[in-house]
Amino acid sequence: MKRTLACFLEQCQERWTARRMPDSTFWPDFSTRLEVELPRLIELLWSLYGERPDFAFQFEELIAETFTAFCSRPARLREYDRKHPPESGLQLDGRQVGAVAYAGRFAKGFKGLADRIPYLKELGISYLHLMPFFLAPEKENDGGYAVSSYRETDPALGSMTDLENLSAQLAQAGMALVVDFIFNHTSNEHEWALKAKDGQPRFQDFYYLFADQAETVAYQAHLRDIFPEHRKGSFTWDAGMARWVWTSFNSFQWDLNYRNPEVFRAMAAEMTGLANRGVSVLRLDAVAFIWKQAGTSCENLPQAHTIIRAFQSLARLACPGLLFKSEAIVHPDDIAKYIDLRECQLSYNPLLMAELWEAAATKDVRLLAASLAKRHHLPSGCAWVNYVRCHDDIGWTFADEDAAELGIKGADHRSFLNEFYLGRFPGSFSRGVSFQYNPLNGDRRICGTAASLAGLERALEEGSATMLETALRRLQLLYGIVYSVGGLPLLYLGDEVAALNDYGYLQDPAHAADSRWVHRPRWSESLYKQRLDANSVAGRMFQCLRRYAQLRRSYKLFAVQSLAVLDGGNKAILAYHKQAEGQLLTVLGNFSEEPVIIPAVRLADFLGGAQGANLLDGRIVLPHEDLALEPCELLWILVDFTASE
Ligand code: GLC
Ligand code: GLC
Repeated sequence: MKRTLACFLEQCQERWTARRMPDSTFWPDFSTRLEVELPRLIELLWSLYGERPDFAFQFEELIAETFTAFCSRPARLREYDRKHPPESGLQLDGRQVGAVAYAGRFAKGFKGLADRIPYLKELGISYLHLMPFFLAPEKENDGGYAVSSYRETDPALGSMTDLENLSAQLAQAGMALVVDFIFNHTSNEHEWALKAKDGQPRFQDFYYLFADQAETVAYQAHLRDIFPEHRKGSFTWDAGMARWVWTSFNSFQWDLNYRNPEVFRAMAAEMTGLANRGVSVLRLDAVAFIWKQAGTSCENLPQAHTIIRAFQSLARLACPGLLFKSEAIVHPDDIAKYIDLRECQLSYNPLLMAELWEAAATKDVRLLAASLAKRHHLPSGCAWVNYVRCHDDIGWTFADEDAAELGIKGADHRSFLNEFYLGRFPGSFSRGVSFQYNPLNGDRRICGTAASLAGLERALEEGSATMLETALRRLQLLYGIVYSVGGLPLLYLGDEVAALNDYGYLQDPAHAADSRWVHRPRWSESLYKQRLDANSVAGRMFQCLRRYAQLRRSYKLFAVQSLAVLDGGNKAILAYHKQAEGQLLTVLGNFSEEPVIIPAVRLADFLGGAQGANLLDGRIVLPHEDLALEPCELLWILVDFTASE
């Protein structure tokens, strides 16, 4: 007899209601939640695995393991869960400021990082994303994104216990720990991969293996190469197994086979295990790639959403305070689909990142403003993670349709932006490095620290004080938008002291072929010392970011996601309003290298006819006077309608 979803659900409900866990004080709490989640979870997983003969068994085990994870959740985290359900989590708190770093580069491992908590506090950080710190192959590991064990750390950084201690110390200092959930692939040295290589069919079914190359060729026709400089195609031959392995990224990163329910179950256990170490947000790595289907690009398939929603449902059972952040560096329409209270409450905003740099190069904010007007809005309860730079390359992921509306041809514009940021275009201020040039289609991406891309490196080389001033303002402008636009700003550590490109990676054989290392800075004692020196570049950047964070803590309007894009009256002027509780913030950014005047009539309109104050320097702004913006200047003008006359 064919099983139906309804009868399977009924059976599960009976089984779980009948199951008594007299020894566990946690059962009543868990079972209440299970009652709510079970129908949802079953429906999701049924759509993927309903036909599989082992589904009932895998599902039973999955729930049992999730309950075990719930029972072993430390008391401190249980308390956190109570205070921070996803519906009112940190993503909605405008005081939050994020930072991201490699524990081994920003500090000497977990213990060293704990010593840097005061430094992070100076910057107002409340959310710390530690780049992958797991056990990984020694030589090639894609910056930690090839994981050999989710339960062990890179010994050079400390132990899992050190990590748990760090997480508790961070929590005491009011900082949430954010960790990667690298669930699309494992390294080829993960225990599962080793057992697969050993010929164990159970583990061979954890990955996508093909004996016949013809099968891979059929898939390949629809796939893109992510790292074309390293290799062509998405499949790697393993001589020992005599099989082709699906490897979307590097040959040593084996894609997991989510068509096998045991893989889902195994990764669910890794997820709850990680959460129980004291993680508040999981950064879901490479979400777009997790489901494959012949004849498609194997990116952003509906089943990818189903899997994430099922993980989310399990998180609500075992670790309900946990939030998900989506890392989808894809078309903006596809990015949006991962963002939902029941899927990922947070998402990187690669579109804003790319278009900030686009506007800086063109001195024209139209594409940026159009995207803010059209694509900034999110479902309630969700927030963007806005950033200027991250550990990855900059890809020009704006929508060609959006560009076309402004008469811009996507492909040509991307070539221009690449030339510009490589510093080859006349008038470019940037010192960028090429990443993954693909001669077949001319694609490439850009690496470089925010400071080097914004012009500081070049200004220093040329010894030009004017260029330096403009470059620093440009860097502050980009960050000032990220800190004010709505959502959670993410500071890439090193940027706060305007760290420049580090070309030392070329001397390191493990890094030389991957130019992203040019912008993954190491802690610099000398820049750190300059942070309080208001005459140094590092000090000015540091104080600026500190001020942004302080202001976020002082005004509720930064917690408001929505914004109203205004017509700046000049293509170089980005203007928007944020509003809350009788306060109106007008953000004005000049992307040009020339001063720009905002005429009094327009300004009066922006300020609702009232007098405002620029929060960044305290200057009074009068609505009936023209306002001059210096090259790359940013203003946050507050009008407080609630203040007594
Ligand atoms: C993510 C990471 C990137 C890594 C890739 C493969 O995109 O950000 O650094 O190379 O996943 O894991
Ligand atoms: C591609 C992927 C993205 C990854 C990046 C690494 O853009 O879509 O997930 O971060 O490559 O360079």
